Amino acid sequence: MTEFPHESVLINEVLETLSPQSGDRILDLTLGLGGHASALLEKAGPKGSLVGIDADEQNLVVARQRLEKQSNQCEFVHSNFKQLPELELGKFDVILADLGVSSPHFDDADRGFSFRKDGPLDMRFDRSQGRTAAEIIQKYTELELSEILRDFGEVPQHDKIAGALKRENPQSTHQAYGVIESVNTRDAKKNAQKVFQALRIEVNNELEALDTVLETAPEMLNSEGRLGIISFHSLEDRRVKQKFRALSSVEKDNTTGADIGKPLFSEIKRKPIKPSTEEIENNPRSRSAVLRVLKKNAV
Ligand SMILES: C[S@@+](CC[C@H](N)C(=O)[O-])C[C@H]1O[C@@H](n2cnc3c(N)ncnc32)[C@H](O)[C@@H]1O
Repeated sequence: MTEFPHESVLINEVLETLSPQSGDRILDLTLGLGGHASALLEKAGPKGSLVGIDADEQNLVVARQRLEKQSNQCEFVHSNFKQLPELELGKFDVILADLGVSSPHFDDADRGFSFRKDGPLDMRFDRSQGRTAAEIIQKYTELELSEILRDFGEVPQHDKIAGALKRENPQSTHQAYGVIESVNTRDAKKNAQKVFQALRIEVNNELEALDTVLETAPEMLNSEGRLGIISFHSLEDRRVKQKFRALSSVEKDNTTGADIGKPLFSEIKRKPIKPSTEEIENNPRSRSAVLRVLKKNAV
Protein backbone atom coordinates (compact mmCIF):
# COMPACT_ATOMS: atom_id res chain seq x y z
CA MET A 1 0.00 0.00 0.00
CA THR A 2 1.84 3.05 -1.18
CA GLU A 3 -0.67 5.43 0.42
CA PHE A 4 0.15 4.12 3.89
CA PRO A 5 3.84 3.30 3.83
CA HIS A 6 4.12 2.35 7.51
CA GLU A 7 4.95 -1.34 7.82
CA SER A 8 3.19 -3.12 10.63
CA VAL A 9 5.61 -5.44 12.40
CA LEU A 10 5.03 -9.18 12.69
CA ILE A 11 1.79 -8.80 10.74
CA ASN A 12 1.56 -12.47 9.69
CA GLU A 13 2.42 -13.68 13.17
CA VAL A 14 -0.18 -11.34 14.69
CA LEU A 15 -2.87 -12.64 12.34
CA GLU A 16 -1.88 -16.24 12.96
CA THR A 17 -1.78 -16.09 16.76
CA LEU A 18 -4.58 -13.60 17.42
CA SER A 19 -6.56 -15.46 14.78
CA PRO A 20 -9.55 -13.13 14.33
CA GLN A 21 -12.80 -14.94 13.53
CA SER A 22 -15.90 -13.71 11.76
CA GLY A 23 -17.81 -11.28 13.99
CA ASP A 24 -15.00 -10.80 16.52
CA ARG A 25 -14.82 -7.68 18.67
CA ILE A 26 -11.28 -6.26 18.41
CA LEU A 27 -9.47 -3.74 20.59
CA ASP A 28 -6.31 -2.11 19.24
CA LEU A 29 -4.67 -0.25 22.10
CA THR A 30 -2.03 1.33 19.84
CA LEU A 31 -3.87 2.04 16.62
CA GLY A 32 -0.96 3.97 15.07
CA LEU A 33 -1.55 4.20 11.34
CA GLY A 34 -4.09 1.39 11.49
CA GLY A 35 -2.03 -1.31 9.76
CA HIS A 36 -2.65 -4.14 12.22
CA ALA A 37 -6.18 -2.92 12.86
CA SER A 38 -7.25 -3.00 9.20
CA ALA A 39 -5.76 -6.48 8.69
CA LEU A 40 -7.43 -7.82 11.86
CA LEU A 41 -10.77 -6.24 11.02
CA GLU A 42 -10.69 -7.61 7.51
CA LYS A 43 -10.38 -11.12 8.94
CA ALA A 44 -13.28 -10.44 11.31
CA GLY A 45 -15.45 -9.66 8.27
CA PRO A 46 -18.47 -7.36 8.00
CA LYS A 47 -19.86 -8.48 11.36
CA GLY A 48 -16.60 -7.71 13.15
CA SER A 49 -15.97 -4.48 15.03
CA LEU A 50 -12.98 -2.53 16.24
CA VAL A 51 -12.19 -0.04 18.97
CA GLY A 52 -8.91 1.75 18.23
CA ILE A 53 -7.08 3.82 20.81
CA ASP A 54 -4.12 6.11 20.28
CA ALA A 55 -2.58 8.89 22.32
CA ASP A 56 -1.42 10.61 19.14
CA GLU A 57 -4.11 12.62 17.40
CA GLN A 58 -2.15 12.89 14.16
CA ASN A 59 -1.90 9.10 13.87
CA LEU A 60 -5.61 8.76 14.60
CA VAL A 61 -6.37 10.97 11.59
CA VAL A 62 -4.34 8.67 9.32
CA ALA A 63 -5.88 5.52 10.83
CA ARG A 64 -9.38 6.91 10.28
CA GLN A 65 -8.55 7.41 6.59
CA ARG A 66 -7.13 3.94 6.29
CA LEU A 67 -10.20 2.39 7.89
CA GLU A 68 -12.65 4.66 6.07
CA LYS A 69 -14.35 1.83 4.19
CA GLN A 70 -15.06 0.01 7.46
CA SER A 71 -15.85 3.19 9.42
CA ASN A 72 -19.29 1.89 10.45
CA GLN A 73 -17.53 -0.98 12.24
CA CYS A 74 -14.99 1.25 14.02
CA GLU A 75 -14.82 3.46 17.08
CA PHE A 76 -11.79 5.72 17.50
CA VAL A 77 -10.65 6.85 20.93
CA HIS A 78 -8.07 9.55 21.57
CA SER A 79 -6.65 8.43 24.88
CA ASN A 80 -3.68 6.95 26.64
CA PHE A 81 -4.13 3.22 27.32
CA LYS A 82 -3.18 4.09 30.89
CA GLN A 83 -6.86 5.12 31.11
CA LEU A 84 -8.06 1.64 30.13
CA PRO A 85 -9.82 0.90 33.45
CA GLU A 86 -11.79 4.18 33.26
CA LEU A 87 -12.76 3.80 29.59
CA GLU A 88 -15.10 0.86 30.37
CA LEU A 89 -14.99 -0.58 26.88
CA GLY A 90 -16.42 -4.00 27.71
CA LYS A 91 -15.14 -7.41 26.57
CA PHE A 92 -13.19 -8.35 23.43
CA ASP A 93 -12.18 -11.43 21.45
CA VAL A 94 -8.90 -9.91 20.28
CA ILE A 95 -6.74 -7.27 21.98
CA LEU A 96 -3.46 -5.99 20.56
CA ALA A 97 -0.84 -3.58 21.88
CA ASP A 98 2.04 -2.77 19.53
CA LEU A 99 4.09 -0.65 21.90
CA GLY A 100 6.23 2.39 21.35
CA VAL A 101 6.75 4.72 18.45
CA SER A 102 5.42 4.66 14.92
CA SER A 103 7.47 5.57 11.84
CA PRO A 104 6.14 9.16 11.60
CA HIS A 105 7.37 9.79 15.14
CA PHE A 106 10.92 9.04 14.03
CA ASP A 107 10.61 10.60 10.60
CA ASP A 108 9.00 13.90 11.59
CA ALA A 109 11.77 16.11 13.01
CA ASP A 110 9.17 18.27 14.70
CA ARG A 111 8.24 15.46 17.11
CA GLY A 112 11.73 15.34 18.62
CA PHE A 113 12.05 11.54 18.89
CA SER A 114 15.19 11.19 16.77
CA PHE A 115 18.62 12.77 16.98
CA ARG A 116 19.17 12.16 13.27
CA LYS A 117 17.11 15.24 12.47
CA ASP A 118 17.05 18.54 14.32
CA GLY A 119 13.83 19.48 16.04
CA PRO A 120 12.40 20.50 19.40
CA LEU A 121 13.24 18.02 22.20
CA ASP A 122 9.60 16.99 22.67
CA MET A 123 8.97 13.17 22.47
CA ARG A 124 5.35 13.26 23.66
CA PHE A 125 2.94 10.85 21.94
CA ASP A 126 0.15 13.18 23.00
CA ARG A 127 1.15 16.76 22.29
CA SER A 128 -1.92 18.12 24.04
CA GLN A 129 -0.57 17.33 27.51
CA GLY A 130 2.41 16.40 29.67
CA ARG A 131 6.03 17.47 29.88
CA THR A 132 8.39 17.45 26.94
CA ALA A 133 11.83 15.84 27.21
CA ALA A 134 13.39 19.34 27.36
CA GLU A 135 11.12 20.25 30.28
CA ILE A 136 12.00 17.04 32.10
CA ILE A 137 15.71 17.78 31.77
CA GLN A 138 15.07 21.26 33.11
CA LYS A 139 12.76 20.30 36.01
CA TYR A 140 14.26 17.05 37.33
CA THR A 141 17.25 17.02 39.66
CA GLU A 142 20.54 15.71 38.35
CA LEU A 143 20.11 12.58 40.47
CA GLU A 144 16.57 11.91 39.18
CA LEU A 145 17.75 12.36 35.61
CA SER A 146 20.73 10.10 36.18
CA GLU A 147 18.46 7.36 37.59
CA ILE A 148 16.14 7.59 34.58
CA LEU A 149 19.09 7.23 32.18
CA ARG A 150 20.35 4.25 34.20
CA ASP A 151 17.00 2.48 34.70
CA PHE A 152 15.28 3.14 31.37
CA GLY A 153 18.28 3.25 29.03
CA GLU A 154 21.12 1.41 30.79
CA VAL A 155 23.21 4.41 29.74
CA PRO A 156 26.92 4.06 30.55
CA GLN A 157 28.20 7.21 32.30
CA HIS A 158 24.58 8.09 33.14
CA ASP A 159 25.71 10.35 35.97
CA LYS A 160 28.11 12.35 33.79
CA ILE A 161 25.59 12.66 30.97
CA ALA A 162 22.85 13.72 33.41
CA GLY A 163 25.20 16.39 34.81
CA ALA A 164 26.04 17.67 31.34
CA LEU A 165 22.37 17.75 30.28
CA LYS A 166 21.47 19.74 33.42
CA ARG A 167 24.29 22.23 32.78
CA GLU A 168 23.58 22.73 29.09
CA ASN A 169 19.77 22.51 29.22
CA PRO A 170 19.32 21.42 25.55
CA GLN A 171 16.14 22.50 23.76
CA SER A 172 16.63 20.64 20.49
CA THR A 173 17.53 17.09 19.50
CA HIS A 174 20.83 18.18 17.95
CA GLN A 175 21.75 20.18 21.05
CA ALA A 176 21.03 17.09 23.18
CA TYR A 177 23.19 14.96 20.87
CA GLY A 178 25.98 17.52 21.18
CA VAL A 179 25.84 17.29 24.97
CA ILE A 180 25.98 13.47 24.90
CA GLU A 181 28.88 13.63 22.42
CA SER A 182 30.77 16.06 24.65
CA VAL A 183 30.84 13.41 27.41
CA ASN A 184 31.99 10.55 25.18
CA THR A 185 32.76 11.18 21.53
CA ARG A 186 33.57 7.59 20.56
CA ASP A 187 30.28 6.07 21.75
CA ALA A 188 28.11 9.12 21.09
CA LYS A 189 25.65 7.45 18.73
CA LYS A 190 25.10 4.37 20.90
CA ASN A 191 24.77 6.49 24.01
CA ALA A 192 22.39 8.91 22.32
CA GLN A 193 20.12 6.00 21.31
CA LYS A 194 20.00 4.89 24.94
CA VAL A 195 19.51 8.40 26.33
CA PHE A 196 16.71 9.12 23.85
CA GLN A 197 14.99 5.83 24.73
CA ALA A 198 15.21 6.60 28.45
CA LEU A 199 13.83 10.12 28.06
CA ARG A 200 11.00 8.90 25.83
CA ILE A 201 9.98 6.25 28.37
CA GLU A 202 9.88 8.89 31.10
CA VAL A 203 8.08 11.52 29.00
CA ASN A 204 5.29 9.09 28.11
CA ASN A 205 5.25 7.14 31.36
CA GLU A 206 5.52 4.04 29.21
CA LEU A 207 6.21 1.37 31.80
CA GLU A 208 3.42 2.50 34.11
CA ALA A 209 1.02 2.51 31.17
CA LEU A 210 2.12 -1.02 30.20
CA ASP A 211 1.58 -2.22 33.77
CA THR A 212 -2.00 -0.91 33.60
CA VAL A 213 -2.59 -2.86 30.38
CA LEU A 214 -1.14 -6.01 31.93
CA GLU A 215 -3.45 -5.64 34.93
CA THR A 216 -6.58 -4.71 32.99
CA ALA A 217 -6.56 -6.24 29.51
CA PRO A 218 -6.60 -9.97 30.46
CA GLU A 219 -9.84 -9.36 32.38
CA MET A 220 -11.33 -7.76 29.26
CA LEU A 221 -11.05 -10.95 27.20
CA ASN A 222 -14.09 -13.02 26.30
CA SER A 223 -13.84 -16.78 26.74
CA GLU A 224 -11.07 -17.99 24.37
CA GLY A 225 -10.12 -14.36 23.64
CA ARG A 226 -6.49 -13.52 22.70
CA LEU A 227 -4.26 -10.70 23.94
CA GLY A 228 -1.08 -9.94 21.97
CA ILE A 229 1.64 -7.55 23.06
CA ILE A 230 4.53 -6.52 20.84
CA SER A 231 7.37 -4.95 22.77
CA PHE A 232 10.62 -3.45 21.59
CA HIS A 233 13.00 -3.61 24.52
CA SER A 234 13.74 -5.90 27.41
CA LEU A 235 12.23 -3.59 30.05
CA GLU A 236 8.84 -4.07 28.39
CA ASP A 237 9.21 -7.70 27.39
CA ARG A 238 10.31 -8.74 30.87
CA ARG A 239 7.09 -7.30 32.33
CA VAL A 240 4.92 -8.97 29.69
CA LYS A 241 6.68 -12.32 30.09
CA GLN A 242 6.37 -12.32 33.88
CA LYS A 243 2.70 -11.35 33.87
CA PHE A 244 1.75 -13.86 31.16
CA ARG A 245 3.70 -16.62 32.97
CA ALA A 246 1.99 -15.82 36.26
CA LEU A 247 -1.49 -15.76 34.70
CA SER A 248 -0.98 -19.05 32.89
CA SER A 249 0.63 -20.95 35.77
CA VAL A 250 -1.25 -23.36 37.96
CA GLU A 251 -1.83 -21.79 41.36
CA LYS A 252 -0.29 -23.79 44.22
CA ASP A 253 -1.50 -24.13 47.78
CA ASN A 254 1.00 -22.24 49.96
CA THR A 255 1.22 -24.96 52.61
CA THR A 256 0.76 -28.24 50.77
CA GLY A 257 2.15 -27.23 47.38
CA ALA A 258 -0.83 -28.95 45.76
CA ASP A 259 -2.35 -27.55 42.57
CA ILE A 260 -5.46 -25.42 43.09
CA GLY A 261 -7.66 -25.51 40.03
CA LYS A 262 -6.75 -24.77 36.44
CA PRO A 263 -5.34 -21.38 35.39
CA LEU A 264 -7.74 -19.00 33.62
CA PHE A 265 -5.21 -18.26 30.88
CA SER A 266 -2.60 -20.00 28.74
CA GLU A 267 0.23 -18.73 26.57
CA ILE A 268 -0.25 -19.41 22.87
CA LYS A 269 3.49 -19.99 22.41
CA ARG A 270 5.85 -20.12 25.34
CA LYS A 271 8.77 -18.86 23.29
CA PRO A 272 8.75 -15.21 22.24
CA ILE A 273 7.71 -14.69 18.61
CA LYS A 274 10.30 -12.68 16.64
CA PRO A 275 10.45 -11.30 13.09
CA SER A 276 11.91 -13.43 10.30
CA THR A 277 15.25 -12.51 8.74
CA GLU A 278 13.31 -11.43 5.68
CA GLU A 279 11.14 -9.02 7.69
CA ILE A 280 14.21 -7.56 9.41
CA GLU A 281 15.86 -7.03 6.02
CA ASN A 282 12.78 -5.26 4.65
CA ASN A 283 12.08 -3.30 7.82
CA PRO A 284 15.16 -2.93 10.06
CA ARG A 285 13.04 -1.22 12.73
CA SER A 286 11.34 -4.58 13.36
CA ARG A 287 14.57 -6.22 14.54
CA SER A 288 13.92 -5.84 18.28
CA ALA A 289 10.20 -6.70 18.15
CA VAL A 290 8.95 -9.51 20.39
CA LEU A 291 5.36 -10.76 20.35
CA ARG A 292 3.75 -12.67 23.23
CA VAL A 293 0.18 -13.90 23.19
CA LEU A 294 -2.09 -14.85 26.07
CA LYS A 295 -5.35 -16.75 25.62
CA LYS A 296 -8.26 -16.88 28.01
CA ASN A 297 -9.15 -20.53 28.49
CA ALA A 298 -12.67 -21.64 27.57
CA VAL A 299 -15.10 -21.18 30.43
C1 LIG B 1 4.20 1.03 16.93
S1 LIG B 1 2.89 2.16 16.74
C2 LIG B 1 1.52 1.18 16.29
C3 LIG B 1 1.45 0.87 14.84
C4 LIG B 1 0.20 0.12 14.44
N1 LIG B 1 0.13 -1.17 15.07
C5 LIG B 1 0.10 -0.01 12.93
O1 LIG B 1 0.05 -1.15 12.42
O2 LIG B 1 0.02 1.00 12.25
C6 LIG B 1 2.50 2.58 18.38
C7 LIG B 1 1.39 3.58 18.50
O3 LIG B 1 0.96 3.55 19.85
C8 LIG B 1 0.74 4.84 20.33
N2 LIG B 1 0.97 4.77 21.77
C9 LIG B 1 2.13 4.50 22.42
N3 LIG B 1 1.93 4.47 23.74
C10 LIG B 1 0.60 4.71 23.93
C11 LIG B 1 -0.23 4.80 25.08
N4 LIG B 1 0.28 4.66 26.31
N5 LIG B 1 -1.55 5.03 24.92
C12 LIG B 1 -2.07 5.17 23.66
N6 LIG B 1 -1.32 5.11 22.54
C13 LIG B 1 -0.02 4.88 22.67
C14 LIG B 1 1.73 5.71 19.59
O4 LIG B 1 1.24 7.03 19.49
C15 LIG B 1 1.78 5.02 18.23
O5 LIG B 1 0.85 5.60 17.34
